[in-house]
Amino acid sequence: MTERKNPRLVLAVETSCDETSAAVLNQGEVLSNVILSQDEIHSPYGGVVPELASRQHLQSIDRVVGESLSQAQVSLAEIDLYVVTQGPGLIGSLLVGLTFAKGLAYYFRKPVIGVDHLEAHIEAAFLENRAIEFPVLALLVSGGHTSLYYLEKPLSYQLLGKTRDDAAGECLDKVAKFLQLGYPGGPVIEKVAETGDSSRFHFSLPRMKTPGYDFSFSGLKTAALKVIKENKLNPDHPLLRDFLSSFEEVVVRALLENTNKALEEFRPRSLVLCGGVARNKRLRSKFAELAANYQLPAYVPSPRLCTDNAAMVGALGWKRYQASPERATDLDLDAYPRKDFKADF
Ligand code: KG4
Ligand code: ZN
Repeated sequence: MTERKNPRLVLAVETSCDETSAAVLNQGEVLSNVILSQDEIHSPYGGVVPELASRQHLQSIDRVVGESLSQAQVSLAEIDLYVVTQGPGLIGSLLVGLTFAKGLAYYFRKPVIGVDHLEAHIEAAFLENRAIEFPVLALLVSGGHTSLYYLEKPLSYQLLGKTRDDAAGECLDKVAKFLQLGYPGGPVIEKVAETGDSSRFHFSLPRMKTPGYDFSFSGLKTAALKVIKENKLNPDHPLLRDFLSSFEEVVVRALLENTNKALEEFRPRSLVLCGGVARNKRLRSKFAELAANYQLPAYVPSPRLCTDNAAMVGALGWKRYQASPERATDLDLDAYPRKDFKADF
């Protein structure tokens, strides 16, 4: 590895699920952030097909990286540091990005650093707001994860609670799949629900039997599927928008109830909402209301930075590298599919 005291140009790669993304950053400023979505490939199946996802990453990765370099007007030889998502995610997908980044780092003899995908989602909020005050309470809502984090200071992530079963995004995706509305389900549900009456169908909020901040969405999903069957709902049914509006509303309430509880106990100075589901307008506006009730600032990344992208990965890697350059490795970086598979890192 060529030692450089002051790396500036970062090439970041993200392939943890079904977006192939590459970004170039200069001293933490985003120069390019190219995202190639695989939605069309997975849509007929109503969810991500892991084998198709990794194959598609393999086909696209060099083009996406090439495009990110050309948009940033930077050549590979100029890159000082490689950053790549290490996990959690689909193992085959993760390995494509990881191997690609390690190969480049090896060839150009530059350092490479792996970052956690969930922490990168939180970093998306910091990308657009440099002066977020700590401590921060962060609600991360994506297709694979639903978690609450407390950040006492930068780069310190205390997991307060996570879903015990389905993630909120997964729950939206599965209900949409059941209704044959396509994948990803979240945006479709949002669109149809926009004109619906959210008080038409009643759903009980999930109740955890144990104290803490864990979430659960499988009960809500089962309740929703029951309502669909009982009312014979389908994409053309006149009650569909009321049903989806009611369902979206209860998912948002479940997310915010837990956040509110944690707010009371931890008394943070700032609130962050992130992850793919944070694109949802109802969630964004109710989250802002919650923050306003406590007179706290709420930071929500712009929609493009909520879903998977390499800019958030690069921004976190850049911060981590600055805090401890010795974390950069040559080739011993490995992918982890789940958080609990993660080696001490
Ligand atoms: O963070 P992300 O891109 O991927 C994971 O790390 O999982 O999140 C994808 C999730 C999907 O479940 C998708 O349905 C959901 O984000 N999503 C939305 C919206 N846009 C994406 N959910 C609700 N409303 C949206 N507008
Ligand atoms: Zn994600």
